Amino acid sequence: MSDSAAPFSAAVLISGSGSNLQAFIDAVAEGSLNVRLAVVISNRAEAFGLERARRAGIDALCIDHNDFESRQAFDRDIARALDRYQPDAVILAGFMRILTPEFVQRYAGRMLNIHPSLLPKYPGLDTHRRAIDAGDAWHGSTVHFVTEELDGGPGIVQGRVPIVAGDDPDALAARVLHIEHRIYPHALGLLADGRIQFRDGMAWLDDEPLQEPIQLQQ
Ligand code: GRF
Repeated sequence: MSDSAAPFSAAVLISGSGSNLQAFIDAVAEGSLNVRLAVVISNRAEAFGLERARRAGIDALCIDHNDFESRQAFDRDIARALDRYQPDAVILAGFMRILTPEFVQRYAGRMLNIHPSLLPKYPGLDTHRRAIDAGDAWHGSTVHFVTEELDGGPGIVQGRVPIVAGDDPDALAARVLHIEHRIYPHALGLLADGRIQFRDGMAWLDDEPLQEPIQLQQ
């Protein structure tokens, strides 16, 4: 829960461009998101998101998974780094590593992910091509609580975009990314304001079970 003296703090884990991170940075700067972005951690040194963090004055760390002999050892090092910042939430924003159950449990109810599909459709990779190949009329992205099931935790906010004639995966991905930049700051704001909670394996909004994710359309 946040107050103006000590805003809710979030650590953001990335692997790449960090455009969702940028959406958080911009929302904080314009005053629509009352969150302190405490640290950004990437598993890849060349991730442009690290540069975005530094430009915004946010601590930016690289913890390269190749430097560790096991997934457990990598996750333990991330947890150690996070402990120095004591974030209220851990936000996965294009973080392309599967986290161990121990790590997931440690941040249960405090960790969000964004996945580029209308979950429960298309968990895993290559979602844009799969949606086009299936002849779907709609595609999109889902912000969800992270549980031990990959892309399986309860959804919070979903953004829908149309699939149009002649779409290819890149064009569709760009359309999806655009709506991600709206839904992720919105979902993080709900978490920071204490309006969204994770209890009994479900997402709750304002103390009511959330039967399906909040829907936003392009
Ligand atoms: C997003 O499409 C997200 O859904 C997926 O990875 C992409 C990250 O993009 N998990 P960015 O690094 O935030 O630009």
